[in-house]
Amino acid sequence: MRHKLVIGNWKMNGNRAANTALLSGIVAGLNDFGADCAVCVPAPYLAQCQAELAGTPVAWGGQDVSIHADGAYTGEVSAAMLRDFGATYVLCGHSERRAYHHESNELVAQKTVAALAAGLTPVVCVGESLAQREAGQTEDVICGQLQAVLDALPADDVAKIILAYEPVWAIGTGQTATPQIAQDAHGFLRNCVASKNAAAAATVQILYGGSMKPENAKELMAQPDIDGGLIGGAALKSTDFLGIIQAV
Ligand code: 13P
Repeated sequence: MRHKLVIGNWKMNGNRAANTALLSGIVAGLNDFGADCAVCVPAPYLAQCQAELAGTPVAWGGQDVSIHADGAYTGEVSAAMLRDFGATYVLCGHSERRAYHHESNELVAQKTVAALAAGLTPVVCVGESLAQREAGQTEDVICGQLQAVLDALPADDVAKIILAYEPVWAIGTGQTATPQIAQDAHGFLRNCVASKNAAAAATVQILYGGSMKPENAKELMAQPDIDGGLIGGAALKSTDFLGIIQAV
C-alpha cells in the first residue's frame, strides 16, 4: 500500500511574515491527517522552513536544483546546499522550468541524478501541453520525459524517486483533469516505470498536480494510481492546503 503525499509548491510566492503565518496555520491544523505533507519553497526561505518546521510533521524542499556539485555557476543552488538546510525533496523539471528556462528531458534527468546523489528525494514532474493532448501525443510526451530519467538511473534508484503528473493545461487554469484522465496518465506512467523496474513500479508514488483544490481532491486521490497531490495556488492558504490533506 503506497502512502499518500501532499506537497505544496509555493512557486515564486511568499515573504517571511506571510510564510510564518502559512506554516504555523498548516502545523496547527494538522490533526487526524492521512497523508505525509511538505512544502517546496523559494531557496531564500529554506532556512525559515528549517527554523519553523523542524520537529513538526511537515517536511520541506526546493523547487529546482543544479546539475553541478559546486563551482562557478552563478545563481545556481546545489543539492548539497538544499540538504544543508534540511530539505527532503526537490522538484525536478516542473513545467514552468521546462517552458521558461528551456530545461530538456536530459537536463531534468541530470538534476534527478544530482538530487539523489546528495540524498534528496527528487519529485520528477512530467506533463503534456493542451496542443500535445489535442494532437493525441500525451503518452508519447510524458513517456519521453520519464524515459530520459529512467535511462539516467541505475534500476535500484528508480524506487527512490517520486513522479508528478502535471498536465500543463490544468496548471493554474482552474481546469482540473478529470479523475479518469488523471488516472489514465498515472497508470500509463506506472507501466513505463515497470519496464525498468517492476518492483519499483508498485511502490513509486505518483502525485497529481493541476488546479487541485479541497473540492476535487477526494475524487482524484481515490483513483488507484494517484498517490497524492502537487499543489500550487491552493498551497498558499493554510485552510485550502489542509483541506486537500484532509481529503485523503
Ligand atoms: P496549481 O495548483 O496552481 O494549478 O499549480 C499546480 C502546480 O504547478 C504545482 O506544481
